[in-house]
Amino acid sequence: MLITEFLILLSIVLVFIKLVKPLIQFRSIPYVRPWYPLVGNVFLFLGKTGEQLFDQMNSMFAQHDRLFLLWFGIRPVVGVSHPEFIRKVLTSRACLEKPFFYRFSRIDQGLWAAKTSLWRSQRKALNATFSPSILKNFIPTFETFSKQLVDKLHQYEGSTIDILPITSACTLRMIGRTTMGVDENDEMEIAKFVSNMDKITEVVSNRFLSVHLHSEQIYRMTQLYERETQCRKECSNYTMKVLKERKRKVHMELPGLQKVFIDQLLDECALGRSFSDTEIIQNVYTMLAAGSETTARSISYACLLLAIYPDIQEKVYAEIMSLLSDDIHPLTTATLAELTYMEAFLKECHRLYPVAPYIARESTESIELDGVCFPKRSVFIFNFFALHRSSAVWGIDSEQFNPERFLNEQNGEHHAFGYLPFSGGQRNCIGQRYAMTSLKVMLIYLIRYFRMETHLRQEDLRFSFGMMLELSSECLVRFNKR
Ligand code: HEM
Repeated sequence: MLITEFLILLSIVLVFIKLVKPLIQFRSIPYVRPWYPLVGNVFLFLGKTGEQLFDQMNSMFAQHDRLFLLWFGIRPVVGVSHPEFIRKVLTSRACLEKPFFYRFSRIDQGLWAAKTSLWRSQRKALNATFSPSILKNFIPTFETFSKQLVDKLHQYEGSTIDILPITSACTLRMIGRTTMGVDENDEMEIAKFVSNMDKITEVVSNRFLSVHLHSEQIYRMTQLYERETQCRKECSNYTMKVLKERKRKVHMELPGLQKVFIDQLLDECALGRSFSDTEIIQNVYTMLAAGSETTARSISYACLLLAIYPDIQEKVYAEIMSLLSDDIHPLTTATLAELTYMEAFLKECHRLYPVAPYIARESTESIELDGVCFPKRSVFIFNFFALHRSSAVWGIDSEQFNPERFLNEQNGEHHAFGYLPFSGGQRNCIGQRYAMTSLKVMLIYLIRYFRMETHLRQEDLRFSFGMMLELSSECLVRFNKR
């Protein structure tokens, strides 16, 4: 009896210490309000619409210009707003780990969600697969699919359409071809894959803000889990099928077969180490998931912004026409590098509309920030949407869409860690160069053949919370033939 009472008392003391310790340790850091003991900030997210959640995430960051604490029950997460602290975390060797919620994606053998030890060896091997010399060979593929995109849009000429489903299919084909050598004309399967990936992303985002679903046991009892499993199974079947097909083609040594990402994963000598089958499949899946929808949203929002700002559209068009003759094909890396206004335009799109707005890191050792020592296993979150609109970083016109601000970049007008559409530090986006190249190629084709219009204005654009930047309304653009 005495032992039972002792154990109960001990448990109470331990829980108390777990609860109170961070409160004392982090007492100098402001909390997000309303905050309640045990449940923390949970009520902030309950019963809110996607738009309200998105606004909530932004106002939290806008209200705190240095650090703040967001409590998921008794678990504190550190919001990092100041570019100098962002730099410190993202460039620290102690903060290369991704926190537990990245594992909700169930692709922890792939680069994006892998634990640091595995990530380190994968990233070292994979960096070379995204080198400029490999990338330049992809330009003809980007052109092929950009032409198809133009052909598709000709069908809708003069009518206002939601461009996102069309660009999603296009970028998935690009990634599918350059990572796995997927054949085109797989319309139905590709559309199904995109829609399944969208659903998985939505479920993973919902789980992040729903503390009760963080527990795997509880989550597995929900309908969300069933839905996720079904979608994941279909995505996985598709990836396996394509992988098998690729292996068959490589084995047959078909003439003229262009080297793609997966061939390099199978090439032990080039990588310096072998990849297990699970690592190969999960990395292919990671590239499809991380590369296609991000680029699709990016090009869709770019079209919308060109339509909203006809003057800017004409400047981008004039630059293209001054550098390229009527027949824009074939494009080269050198030509793309000369499109400085287009580059500035895309950068400004990514500043105000970063398609991957939230990232997080976990410390594997203690780290000091703003005079506070954060112990091992502290979780840090970042909000690039809020950062890129901060007037402290970008001046009083921070909300204004103005590509010119990137034309005078050498003046160093903004903090290096005040602009992070592709994140920063060692664990930044490996596909950044790939993304910018494919975006430029698509844009050249779209602007060369169409004049874009929309009835939407920048003030009308509202977003919903999700892993990716999600426009609440459809991305409505009218494509008129030039
Ligand atoms: C406009 C397009 C893109 C944007 C805005 C973007 C943004 C980002 C961001 C912010 C991260 C950091 C994520 C985090 O730390 O949680 C990231 C990581 C990553 N991205 Fe991208 N990305 C884009 C396109 C691509 C493409 C085209 C690929 C592949 C072909 C790609 C592959 C990856 C991978 C594998 C990671 C994980 C890197 C690592 O942990 O080492 N991304 N991306």
